[in-house]
Amino acid sequence: MTNMDFGSPLTGLLHRYTAVRNHTEALVAPLSAEDCGAQSMPDASPAKWHLAHTTWFFETFVLEPHEPMFAPFNPAFRVLFNSYYNGVGARHPRPQRGLLTRPPLAEVQAYRADVDQRIARLMPAVLQSDTLRALVELGLQHEQQHQELLLTDIKHLLWCNPIFPAYGDATTPVGDPAITPATAPPGWVRLGGGLVDIGHGGTGFAFDNESPRHRCYLAPYALASRLVTCGEWLAFVQAGGYQQPAHWLAEGWDWRVAQGLEHPLYWHRPVGDGLWQVFTLAGLQPLQAALPVLHLSYYEADAYARWAGARLPTEAEWEHAAQPAPTGSPGLEQLFGTAWQWTQSSYAAYPGFHPAEGAVGEYNGKFMVNQYVLRGSSCATPPGHARSTYRNFFPATARWQYSGLRLARDA
Ligand code: AVJ
Ligand code: FE
Repeated sequence: MTNMDFGSPLTGLLHRYTAVRNHTEALVAPLSAEDCGAQSMPDASPAKWHLAHTTWFFETFVLEPHEPMFAPFNPAFRVLFNSYYNGVGARHPRPQRGLLTRPPLAEVQAYRADVDQRIARLMPAVLQSDTLRALVELGLQHEQQHQELLLTDIKHLLWCNPIFPAYGDATTPVGDPAITPATAPPGWVRLGGGLVDIGHGGTGFAFDNESPRHRCYLAPYALASRLVTCGEWLAFVQAGGYQQPAHWLAEGWDWRVAQGLEHPLYWHRPVGDGLWQVFTLAGLQPLQAALPVLHLSYYEADAYARWAGARLPTEAEWEHAAQPAPTGSPGLEQLFGTAWQWTQSSYAAYPGFHPAEGAVGEYNGKFMVNQYVLRGSSCATPPGHARSTYRNFFPATARWQYSGLRLARDA
């Protein structure tokens, strides 16, 4: 979609804008108004809030500074749908997003339509200005990030319902029901390392946290050809992996004990037959041993790797192996489109990193503490959104994203 030629630059960017905005609408189409308003936990947001916040992003960062005679759609939305930008001012507390029964969903839809019209009207000016074009592009990439969050948040919400509802219709699988097993038997792909360059260096879009491109040294290493599977994870569970502190980081062990965790998120064993099931966006399914294990925390991924005599890759190892176009080093499967892969790299600034000026500079940089980098992309990532330099990041306890595990070892 992103590489299609729509003729003039005007219709090109506007087409892309419309396609991305419409895709968000398509993702909420299977949901009821009740589904759209609920928030299952402080980390997750209601679908209605995602619809409004992505619109707020365009209104605040594109229209407000650049639209002649700007007037907000609704001045209250500036606070309600501000996620975390101190430079924009006050915000509604994140854990209470589910309490926003007003505005109703219909008003949020009207907000989307209004901002879409105003962006379309501004489009000739957007194309005259590199700054404006970059802000619209950032708004589209931002909306794509929220498309994935919308799916992971809905999955978590539906999981909280003991009747385990499916998100959509099984004939059009979205997210995990569409995942397929690796095609080749598992193995190790050896990489020589040495002095390698990582980070964004090209002319296409990248988030600020992917720059600057810089050199680093990698000792020879090997990456697993595919992701760890549910069958392999089940062996870890059955070997008492969740009962033995020796495999775990101290903080991870304390967290596991406090939470009483004995398996990944969305694994479910009904009382009775004892057969494992896995909750997906298509509802509960029998555990399939060949499918990749999903929804791991960093702590679980790290414990498994130690138990298996391996380790997590660093983000530089992952990126270096994934760089050769189009699908990474020969023999590596499931780099993109299945599950985000935890790395052992702390989410930190690359040497020479500079966030953008102004409030939009709060986008990525201020979160560079106490989180780990995940690489690749998942079954919930919109097509065309990720790339080999992409840096996703979450705290070590986060499990509701499509986060899986690719093992690494020294070679
Ligand atoms: C990159 C997924 C961690 O969830 O806050 C959304 C994406 N940034 N709006 C997040 C994001 C701004 C971000 N993650
Ligand atoms: Fe956001």
